[in-house]
Amino acid sequence: MKKFSIVVAGGGSTFTPGIVLMLLANQDRLPLRALTFYDNDGARQETIAEACKIILQEQAPDIKFSYTTDPKAAFTDVDFVMAHIRVGKYPMREQDEKIPLRHGVLGQETCGPGGIAYGMRSIGGVLELVDYMEQYSPNAWMLNYSNPAAIVAEATRRLRPNAKILNICDMPIGIEGRMAEIVGLKDRKQMRTRYYGLNHFGWWTSIEDLDGNDLMPKLREHVAKYGYVPPTDDPHTEASWNDTFVKARDVQALDPDTMPNTYLKYYLFPDYVVKHSNPNRTRANEVMDHREKHVFGSCNAIIQAGKSSAGELEIDEHASYIVDLASAIAFNTQERMLLIVPNNGAIHNFDADAMVEIPCLVGKSGPQPLTVGDIPNFQKGLMSQQVAVEKLVVDAWEQRSYQKLWQAITLSKTVPSASVAKAILDDLIEANKTYWPELH
Ligand code: NAD
Ligand code: G6P
Ligand code: MN
Repeated sequence: MKKFSIVVAGGGSTFTPGIVLMLLANQDRLPLRALTFYDNDGARQETIAEACKIILQEQAPDIKFSYTTDPKAAFTDVDFVMAHIRVGKYPMREQDEKIPLRHGVLGQETCGPGGIAYGMRSIGGVLELVDYMEQYSPNAWMLNYSNPAAIVAEATRRLRPNAKILNICDMPIGIEGRMAEIVGLKDRKQMRTRYYGLNHFGWWTSIEDLDGNDLMPKLREHVAKYGYVPPTDDPHTEASWNDTFVKARDVQALDPDTMPNTYLKYYLFPDYVVKHSNPNRTRANEVMDHREKHVFGSCNAIIQAGKSSAGELEIDEHASYIVDLASAIAFNTQERMLLIVPNNGAIHNFDADAMVEIPCLVGKSGPQPLTVGDIPNFQKGLMSQQVAVEKLVVDAWEQRSYQKLWQAITLSKTVPSASVAKAILDDLIEANKTYWPELH
């Protein structure tokens, strides 16, 4: 079987160790010959990489492992780039969340003004990775899950139209896992689903078991009472995520014919979200206090002891969708996956050049979207507004335009007026001085 060379861009990510353990557990499906980490923060990456080096020595000494901050060394001779960078890291996520809250608007990593601010930082970072890949390994594919995926995907569609980049999100995968538990199936692969929307902004229209039995009635009944909280819930689910899964109950009530993505709560119940936010302690603070401390603490323990048993790193099981995607391309499996792709008529009554999240068959030449057909006015109206926001952000980045960014924030369904949008924008510009292009 062919063996592959992978570079993980954003090697210092809190998700890297879990993904490495997941890759090791999937060597029968996607065997590796080389694994390289790349990051522009050498010190942060070193901790993760030195711990992963020990894990790899224990489990798979034949895989050639290295880590670097040099793009040429990182991107030469690779088959896949797995990209999960966070430009500005958690301190800037904290700003994205806290600045809008100061103006009474919700603060979220990928939704509303926070997501827009993150988009303005991410576009340049992801385009840079695409360019390195095209320069040093022109036949490689990039599997990108750097956020905000919707804005990043629109930017790459427009500015690097021929790039071999696939944008993917794990939220539908996580929700489908919960759906499978709710209806008593082993896992999400025991279901066949139809879904459409934008990234962090979509709906399931059909969920069947592999015999074609409709699972929607049972799911509808459960979600109407408990949201996406399965009967025997994982006690480790964090409280803030649990709230989101419960809130799906109210989101689903708006259109009981479908099952919603949890992120719709930010657009449909923004007042609720603001009321339940602590402006002094947001999700970024939770992540820094928990996931980041835990991952880096474990890595340091592993490095000190020289063995992986000294840490408590866990395999990121649900990230195996990345292996599904890579092997779909490598082995032309034609697996059906949700990807963020140009609409191109798949949703009949929606813009051809909008980036939509829809099921695609994935093979060696990339994704082939399935037809969705016409969508109802409720979804179409919401999606048109949100797609316009995402396009305006890319306009603003491209044209260095204050005006376009003000329009983008004003148009976000999470923002009440143009004056509030302007006040938020002016604060965001100040906070993002070293990351955003200068606007005029
Ligand atoms: P993190 O801050 O722990 O890791 C990100 C790493 O990227 C850092 O080590 C940072 O130094 C590095 N980085 C930043 N800018 C860079 C650049 N220009 N070039 C190279 N490296 C750069 O963040 P995290 O919480 O582990 O998340 C990583 C990313 O994955 C985020 O974008 C997050 O939103 C995304 N994510 C996406 C999904 C999805 O569904 N699409 C799921 C989980 C996480
Ligand atoms: C889901 C989404 C990601 C997002 C993440 C945030 O996985 O699909 O796009 O980055 O949640 O999780 P966090 O634990 O960092 O708040
Ligand atoms: Mn996502």
